[in-house]
Amino acid sequence: MYNVCVVGVGYVGLVTGTCFADLGNRIIALDISEKRIENLKQGVLPIYEPGLKEIVERNINAGRLNFTTDYTEALKDADFAFICVGTPEGVDGEADLQYVRMAAESIAQNMDHPLIIINKSTVPVGTGDWVAEIVRKNQPKPVDFAVVSCPEFLREGSAIRDFLNPDRTVLGSTDKEACHKVAQLHLPLRAPIVITDLRTAEMIKYASNAFLATRISFINEIANICEALGADVKEVAQGMGYDKRIGHHFLEPGVGFGGSCFPKDVKALAYMAQVNGTHPELLQAVIGINMTQRKQIVIKLEDLLGSVDGKLIGLLGLAFKENTDDIRESPAIAIADMLHNLGANVRGYDPVAGENVARVAPYIELCDDPYTLARGCDALVVATPWNEFKSLDMGQICAEMKTPIMVDGRNLYDGRIMMEMGFQYRGVGRGFGGNMGASRTKDNGK
Ligand code: UGA
Repeated sequence: MYNVCVVGVGYVGLVTGTCFADLGNRIIALDISEKRIENLKQGVLPIYEPGLKEIVERNINAGRLNFTTDYTEALKDADFAFICVGTPEGVDGEADLQYVRMAAESIAQNMDHPLIIINKSTVPVGTGDWVAEIVRKNQPKPVDFAVVSCPEFLREGSAIRDFLNPDRTVLGSTDKEACHKVAQLHLPLRAPIVITDLRTAEMIKYASNAFLATRISFINEIANICEALGADVKEVAQGMGYDKRIGHHFLEPGVGFGGSCFPKDVKALAYMAQVNGTHPELLQAVIGINMTQRKQIVIKLEDLLGSVDGKLIGLLGLAFKENTDDIRESPAIAIADMLHNLGANVRGYDPVAGENVARVAPYIELCDDPYTLARGCDALVVATPWNEFKSLDMGQICAEMKTPIMVDGRNLYDGRIMMEMGFQYRGVGRGFGGNMGASRTKDNGK
């Protein structure tokens, strides 16, 4: 059993703290937002994550998970202090480290015994050294400490499963003894532990996210080529994935990647590369393809409708991916913005993200269910692959629509069946032997 302080109760901090509490440790989670902490004490979570609320409640009741805004209280008996604060995107694509700085300063000012400070937030390479410097400068009197980088690899929507079944734990520090202590905390997770230096650990996180984002942009590019040539990218990805060197993961083409991580992290890595004199051409292409992919949806709608001006378009799904209410960098919202700017009336339905959407895109008319959404629409777009969209009553959807046009940005449906039902259907990269999908190529049978 360890005493652990977690700074920041956003996505990463709350999942990390709660799961370590569930493993039997004593956690004090700290946030500077009094409202968040008060809510958490009442069991009200700042985010939606399947299964998290139950585990938070269980560990609050067991006395293993406590919340505070007071650093002295949070650090009193702590063996470890995790920094899990946000690192938003700065003006030039760099990571904005103001919250990391504030956390490091506050830890330094309030620690009164030796402490291992663990960076879990995704931070630019070199931040660990910078944090150590801040702590040294801000301690009222010298107290021993070590900084360890332990990047997180949690996916929103499956964060608890990812935390409890990690593929690996990465630990980096100049202080190997500190790494071994942090390794002890992670032993119950039974995953391989990679111990390295600070900068390498920080780089492993960026390289991992950039690689996964690259796979997505790669398959999106292949999808566009498939569409032009009359091949089906779903089967292409399946056929490729059986090669063990390739695998099936992260080869789902669609509307491009979104969320608070991939877009920001790829840009931050490209920025770091550039300011350090290298030329991140592949990363730039990954970002560019991702932007194009969102536009492709609008181009398809224009193809099918002539113009979207004055048309009513319904978006099935608004969150950046399924099983989350997070709309940060959501492709759905980017598509809605483009359509809105082109004069379309935009509607949307999402099982959980509606409240967040109302705040950032009030022009989107929110509907209570997919059937109400479809009523009178000139076209529907699948923007988020929620499970509940997979078995909709398509007969009813078709009957509700003004014109049954479906742009399936997540390839949820079987295009042939949709066409048999009377839909004009476009998936992503689904050429189907040249019969559909590539309306702008001359050899597609039109
Ligand atoms: C991602 C990484 O997967 C995590 O390992 C990492 O810890 C996290 O970022 C982070 O840095 O905090 P997340 O952004 O929550 O996690 O979600 P993903 O499941 O990776 O999806 C990211 C985006 O890519 C979503 O918009 C998703 O719809 C899209 N995607 C994913 C595709 O378009 N195709 C795919 O095949 C997979």
